This record gives sequence, structure tokens and C-alpha cells, in this order.
Amino acid sequence: MILTKCFPLIWLSLLTLCAGRTLYPLPGQGPKSVKLPLQTSRPYNIAHRGSNGEIPEETAAAYLRAIEEGTDFIETDILSSKDGVLICFHDCILDDTTDVASHKEFADRKRTYEVQGVNVTGFFTFDFTLTELKKLRINQRYKFRDQQYNGKYPIITFEEFITIARDAPRVVGIYPEIKNPVLMNQHVKWPGGKRFEDKVVETLKKYGYGGSYLSKKWLRKPLFIQSFAPTSLVYISNLIDSPKIFLIDDVTIPTQDTNQTYAEITSDEYFHYIKQYVVGIGPWKDTIVPVMNNYLQLPTDLVKRAHTHNLQVHPYTYRNEHEYLHFNFSEDPYNEYDYWINEIGVDGLFTDFTGSLHHFQEWTSPLSETFKSPRKLLGQIASLVLPYAKA
Ligand SMILES: *[C@@H]1O[C@H](CO)[C@@H](O)[C@H](O)[C@H]1NC(C)=O
Ligand SMILES: *[C@@H]1O[C@H](CO)[C@@H](O)[C@H](O)[C@H]1NC(C)=O
Ligand SMILES: *[C@@H]1O[C@H](CO)[C@@H](O)[C@H](O)[C@H]1NC(C)=O
Repeated sequence: MILTKCFPLIWLSLLTLCAGRTLYPLPGQGPKSVKLPLQTSRPYNIAHRGSNGEIPEETAAAYLRAIEEGTDFIETDILSSKDGVLICFHDCILDDTTDVASHKEFADRKRTYEVQGVNVTGFFTFDFTLTELKKLRINQRYKFRDQQYNGKYPIITFEEFITIARDAPRVVGIYPEIKNPVLMNQHVKWPGGKRFEDKVVETLKKYGYGGSYLSKKWLRKPLFIQSFAPTSLVYISNLIDSPKIFLIDDVTIPTQDTNQTYAEITSDEYFHYIKQYVVGIGPWKDTIVPVMNNYLQLPTDLVKRAHTHNLQVHPYTYRNEHEYLHFNFSEDPYNEYDYWINEIGVDGLFTDFTGSLHHFQEWTSPLSETFKSPRKLLGQIASLVLPYAKA
């Protein structure tokens, strides 16, 4: 009897405790136990280079925006500075998305190197120290996107990127790509003969990442490691058990390390081999459903075959603008999400517009209210217990 009477009190004090702490949590300052978990019931919303449809790619602002808009994972590309610091940056040259050209002090840094069999000329990230890279500011890649943030945000390091995910008010996963590993290992030397891949894994472990897909450890710090280079994926399999994704380029582009063709790496034999190392593939979407004159053709059997091998499929890249939307979708990005999620059946989507994908998923497959809020769940339990306690 006494115990029963105490029940509402216990629940009430629990509620008060939680409410007092979680009403307006500062990033990273709420108790870890009340962070909303990663949703795993619907395809993953992967914020490609952050919300780069709105804010210049791979900047802290783009990642914070993606978190605000409901992303499951923030995605990034890892490259290296001259002094071996891992940075978040997509191109191996700085020319297209920074103000490097306007820095007279760097005018003599322009170089030509061979990148995947092609001579590329520009300002390469690995010819600049981190201190020098931090002087640059990032610009929007596409002219048809909002230019107001140009010149405002610096390049961030991989560690700064991880901190953004760690300090998010809910569990937000990270999705780093080991970018251009062949080139990085050619041009950057790390102490002790360490490779680029070693540095990436070392950094992840420093921040407590690890654990197989959906394990308790993984759910606390969700992570997919992606790469176009099979040898990098195989190599890091001996270093970390985190789930890995094998990226697949256009049908005309051979793998940068093993020089294999698209046909080879998408064969059943190859899927059978690579699934020992990866939980999924990340193909370019136009190779899954080929496009002609901006109209979709018949889908290939790639997704079906990958699923047969128990491999997830996370295609890239979904973009709202008419420059990228194929005519079948009537200029409507929601139509495109509907097609890929409900007809093709993909397991994750790299999007430049996390907010749009999040809205689509909330409208069509909302997460249950209790999942969204542990406080609400406690409240519901309390209201269930209360009538019995009164009796
Ligand atoms: C790149 O340029 C160098 C120097 O001019 C040349 O020797 C090499 O053949 C070129 N490589 C390619 C792939 O064009
Ligand atoms: C890559 O393979 C193609 C054949 O698929 C061959 O023609 C080419 O020379 C190879 N390139 C290298 C760098 O081995
Ligand atoms: C896209 O439109 C083209 C041209 O009308 C049509 O042939 C094709 O079947 C459509 N594809 C899909 C998936 O709706």
C-alpha cells in the first residue's frame, strides 16, 4: 500500500528531474541518457557535405543546419593538409570552393599532379599546412544556390567535425569518406610510416567510435566509413569493426586503387567477396536507374542483387533543383524521394537538402511520438500507473 502510494511521487520526481534538465539543453550539455536515439526504422537521411544545398559545403554551419533539419548522419570527405592534419573537404584542389585565388601569398602554390590517371592543375590541399588552410574561406559550389554565405566559413578539421556530431542535442551519426587515399598516401607522410587510413581510424577511435552495425556501442555513436577504394576498406577492416560502405562511381570510371571496371565491382561474385568487409554499397543513383535525355530508363537489378547479398544501398546524390531533377518527377523532389524509397527500396539517401527528405519522411512514415521524446514516454507510463496508484 505504501509502495503503491509512492509510485506517483517517484514518477513525478523522475519527470521533474528530466523536465528540469532537458527543456532547453545546450548542445552536448544534456545528460547523455536523454539524447534522442538514432531512428533505424526508415531509410537513413544522410546530409551530403552538410546541408550544402543551403550553406557552403562541409562547413560547421552546413552541418549544424543539417542537424537542425533532422538528419540522421552528417556526411563528410576526409583529406589531409601538408602537415598531416585531417580536414573536411571534397576536392583535392581548393580552387572551386574557396577564395584561395585571392590570396596573393599563395600564388606560387599552384601545381599539376596526376590524379586517377588525369593531370589536374590547381592548389592542392596537401601543399598547405593547416594554419594556411584556416586562412581560406569557403564558397558555395553552385552559382544557382544562395551566395550570401560565401567567404564566411573556414575549412574545419575532421576532429572539429566529430565534435559537431558529439555535441548535437540528439544522437547524430557521422559518415566520413576516406577520400583519394592513393593520392593522399603519395603526397603526405605521417610519422612512423602511418598511412592515411591509419590516421582516419585513429581519429575515430580517439572519440570512442567503433562497434558493429546496430550494436549498443554503434547506436551511441553511429558511424559508416565510406570509400571508393576497395583496398582502403579491406585495410581498415583489420583496424576497426565499424560498418563500411563501398562507394561505386559512374560506369565509365575504374576504381582508383585496383583499376577494376564498374561491371566487375557490381557483379555477384564481387558482392560476395566485398560483403566480408562492408555492410553496403553507395552507388551513383543514375547508374541504378539509367537516364536518357533527362528521363529515367528501366531500373537495373543492382538494388535487388545487393539486397540478395544482404548489402544495404545508399545512393548519392539527391538534389532539389531542376538542374538535377529528372523530368519524370515533375520538378518535385518529394516525387523523387517517393520513387527511390517506395519503388526502388533504398536503405539510405545522400541528400543536399536534408530538410526536404526529413519532411517527406515525417509526412509519409512518421516516427512514433514516444520515440521522439523520452520525456513523453515517461509521462505516458506515469499516466498509466497513476489510476492504479490511486485505487
Ligand atoms: C601529366 O603531365 C606530365 C608532365 O607534363 C606528363 O609526363 C604525363 O604524361 C601527363 N599524364 C597524363 C595522364 O596526361
Ligand atoms: C586499367 O585497366 C585497363 C583495362 O580495363 C587498362 O587498359 C589500363 O591500362 C589499366 N590502367 C592501369 C593504370 O593499370
Ligand atoms: C520516365 O519517363 C519516360 C518518358 O516518358 C518513360 O519512358 C519512363 O518509363 C519513365 N520512368 C519512370 C520510372 O517513371
